[in-house]
Amino acid sequence: MGSGLASLVVTRVFSGIKPTGPVQLGNLLGALRTWVDDQHRADSTFCVVDLHALTVPQDPAVLRAATTELAQLLLAVGIDPTVSTLFVQSDVREHTELSWILECTAAFGELRRMTQFKDKSTDATFVSAGLFTYPALMAADILLYDTDEVPVGDDQRQHLELTRDLAERFNSRYGPTFVVPKATVPTVAARVMDLADPTRKMSKSEDSPQGTVLVLDDLDDVTRKIRRAVTDTDNEVRFDPSAKPGVSNLLAILSACTGDAPETLADRYTQYGPLKADTADAVVEYLRPIQQRYAEFAEDPSGTRSILLAGADKARALAEPKMHQVRSRLGLPTD
Ligand code: TYM
Repeated sequence: MGSGLASLVVTRVFSGIKPTGPVQLGNLLGALRTWVDDQHRADSTFCVVDLHALTVPQDPAVLRAATTELAQLLLAVGIDPTVSTLFVQSDVREHTELSWILECTAAFGELRRMTQFKDKSTDATFVSAGLFTYPALMAADILLYDTDEVPVGDDQRQHLELTRDLAERFNSRYGPTFVVPKATVPTVAARVMDLADPTRKMSKSEDSPQGTVLVLDDLDDVTRKIRRAVTDTDNEVRFDPSAKPGVSNLLAILSACTGDAPETLADRYTQYGPLKADTADAVVEYLRPIQQRYAEFAEDPSGTRSILLAGADKARALAEPKMHQVRSRLGLPTD
């Protein structure tokens, strides 16, 4: 009886990705890989967060194309819309409505402490107010769906802590409303580093083409970039991210592609050359079927849009009653 009841408890997973720039290996290994697994064990919702892209000016045609292409890539990676929900953020208006309410729940000082805001606003010529309030929109994305777990890379941990704080603050002010979610960060490849400068994170918005492996890169380029990855000169293969960031990054990437622990892999190599060659081969074999499936999905943009609209309907079915409850808690009209 006890275990029967336990099996009825559904874990809800939610995560999102911005349609800004091409998807890189860090997105895939740090987050998307987990999404694909999660959809088979949890009630999972995945979102192309187009509103989050608007914190910097966007060319409308580019954003429209990038949103569709990102959805196609998620399908190619293995997100299955028959077992999970895949939709575009701006198709479900409740995200922006809850975002305002969470902006009013967050303290100015709390948002100012966000390291991503500091990184992105330093040296920027124009800093939008949206860049500052971005984490409130992210919290809205998550809290609308009674989310238990948020599979993300390491760089999103601080935003998840804020989301938890906002949920708890709202619940204590207005009564239990939101599930307090937690980040689920993979044990390896939670922070894939740039191949040309392994002290900085691989990023789709950085201008480091040689250090960034794009999921849709030509596979010969992938091999070349990994074989030329910057390592240190002492030629000892050891998993030690702070002392040996370049070698450890390669071991983490190889680990994520093969399932073997980085420390175990390290024992198999005495030189960097074979490690680089095997890592390049593993990544190429990981990407090859994704690229093949992507080419198929890319031929059918209207089919993709139908999947996304159906996903938005499923998402709205959860978001609308949650927003109704929030409005009621706050004393806003609900009739
Ligand atoms: P975004 O679009 O920058 O990245 C998508 C996911 O990829 C992970 N990631 C990495 N993981 C490992 N190594 C890397 N080098 C690397 N680079 C990126 C990110 O951690 C993320 O999981 N704010 C979010 C999008 C978002 C969101 C949400 C996420 C909006 N609303 C709600 C979860 C839940 C972002 O900018 O991700």
